[in-house]
Amino acid sequence: MSHDTEHPDPRVARWSAAERADDPSAPDDVPGALGGSRLFEQPRYRAEVERFMGFAAAPGPVAVEVGFDHGRRLLSLAADDPTVRWVGLEVRRRRVEGLAQAAQTRGLTNLLAWRADARTVFRRVVPPGRLSRVDILFPTPWWHAGRRAERQLLTAAFVADVARALAPEGILHVATDVGPYFEHVAGLIAEWVAAPDPPPAPVPSRRAHTCARDDIPVFSGTWRVTAPRPAGSSGAK
Ligand SMILES: C[S@@+](CC[C@H](N)C(=O)[O-])C[C@H]1O[C@@H](n2cnc3c(N)ncnc32)[C@H](O)[C@@H]1O
Repeated sequence: MSHDTEHPDPRVARWSAAERADDPSAPDDVPGALGGSRLFEQPRYRAEVERFMGFAAAPGPVAVEVGFDHGRRLLSLAADDPTVRWVGLEVRRRRVEGLAQAAQTRGLTNLLAWRADARTVFRRVVPPGRLSRVDILFPTPWWHAGRRAERQLLTAAFVADVARALAPEGILHVATDVGPYFEHVAGLIAEWVAAPDPPPAPVPSRRAHTCARDDIPVFSGTWRVTAPRPAGSSGAK
């Protein structure tokens, strides 16, 4: 989706992808916001990895939303379809605690809120081919160039990790109001195949709501790593 309206934030037009973060030959260790992927080698974080692995091992599709913020969209998705097991990755502790509490209050056993840097989880933890869907809505643009070099989420290395994690017919759905960020993503996944958007979540994300309210242009797309398989062959779980 896109609009003709100009973005009211002048920083958007000046945004450019961090070159260092874009290196597809990034080392195996990811210097994430929460201590990097080596974190998971520490015994006290092992339990979190095992909790995720147990959640993802149950039968049925597993989907991930990265950076869920207050999590109302994710909560609505999990409530909408109990056959999908949703994992929310978010680095902000209070957001994660808030969503975990909300899921428990509503008895949603198909939602796991995990405080972790998505880059480290996709690099080190998610089993190959396990995910049916990855949603990344309004990834942080990191306006400060130094921060962006450290933390930009959508890089060639991260996209390669997402591609590995997706099932053959699994989809990546991305939305952002930072036009140059969307162009950057489109370049990263130029070899992927466009796919239909998933149905809109019953509750939009906070940023999606703000953009709609203020008529801010939004760019979004959905892609598969490979073309859909012929009917009868196995697809996304
Ligand atoms: C700009 S906000 C968008 C929030 C929400 N998706 C929306 O559409 O309103 C980006 C969110 O991603 C989270 N985030 C940023 N980098 C992350 C990472 N590497 N792993 C997980 N969450 C991340 C931030 O804490 C923040 O909540």
